[in-house]
Amino acid sequence: MTEMPLVGQISDYLENGAPKEIRKTIREAGKKDILDPGYPYRQEMDKDEYQDRMQDLQLQLVRMKHGSRETGKRIVVLFEGRDAAGKGGTIERVRENLNPRSCYIVALPKPNEREASQWYFQRYVDWLPAAGEIALFDRSWYNRGVVERVFGFSTEQQRNAFFRQLPNFEQTLVDDNITLVKLWLNVGRAEQLTRFLAREQDPLKQWKLSSVDVEGLAKWDIYSEAIRDTLNLSHSPIAPWHVIRSDDKRRARIAAIQTILQAVDFAGKDSDKIGIVDPSIAGGPEMLD
Ligand code: ADP
Ligand code: AMP
Ligand code: MLT
Repeated sequence: MTEMPLVGQISDYLENGAPKEIRKTIREAGKKDILDPGYPYRQEMDKDEYQDRMQDLQLQLVRMKHGSRETGKRIVVLFEGRDAAGKGGTIERVRENLNPRSCYIVALPKPNEREASQWYFQRYVDWLPAAGEIALFDRSWYNRGVVERVFGFSTEQQRNAFFRQLPNFEQTLVDDNITLVKLWLNVGRAEQLTRFLAREQDPLKQWKLSSVDVEGLAKWDIYSEAIRDTLNLSHSPIAPWHVIRSDDKRRARIAAIQTILQAVDFAGKDSDKIGIVDPSIAGGPEMLD
């Protein structure tokens, strides 16, 4: 396991690298406390309430899926956000009761040499859905704007070309009647660090730690800048971003599924059961601040 040497580096960062106020927030927090002082709630959502809401929403997802098979809809959902923002867990809740043959996760590794020589969007195009399918992207073409910039994995020229092509690329998908939903999960710094610490201590989750995660800890502000620029350059009426505050995983998962359901018309859609997305949890790029 190449990941093992990384174990220990997160707690080391907490002790020796993290800003003082982050360390203090983590030390003083109670078990259910939300760490980000700017988050609109002080505690996580009640478990029973969460489970009730989730059950209603998952039933709506099953209907959405059934309806999209009948009408031949194609749905693409992008899950983006910093490491440990909760993309994987949210995707799991969306997918849980849907047929894996037609609702699938796309989690591509870093491009190999051949892919790196192709048109940047090409390998993502391979995974776009056919009629009746839902593609859930765990990270996406937006790697070019954020992680690739932060770590210098692509050149400025490549990024400029990416942002030039992006509006037309997404417009083309939408023109072709693909429903495109872009979700940005936004996690606070103390919460991210706490989730990394939990990963470090859990043998079942240690595999999730990568050198990008560890090295990314000290690059918080550079990430913030890349994220802000990326969202500003790619938020448009035809392909808007839905930024979801995800310090509380429960509220974030609920808001994410509500957002997907609202974006799609389907037979049996029950707007009362879907409910209104909490505007203090989800909104546009202005939610980042
Ligand atoms: P994840 O958070 O998806 O588990 P990492 O945190 O290790 O994975 O990496 C974040 C993203 O950066 C991934 O989508 C990965 O493919 C991408 N990435 C890592 N190394 C490179 C590289 N050398 N060139 C381009 N992309 C890379
Ligand atoms: P810096 O923010 O100067 O540390 O830059 C880190 C990396 O991001 C460098 O490779 C820069 O070329 C790149 N970069 C900085 N600003 C932008 C931007 N607005 N668009 C694309 N790349 C950028
Ligand atoms: C997340 O939790 O946001 C990701 O899916 C997992 C990761 O960061 O490696």
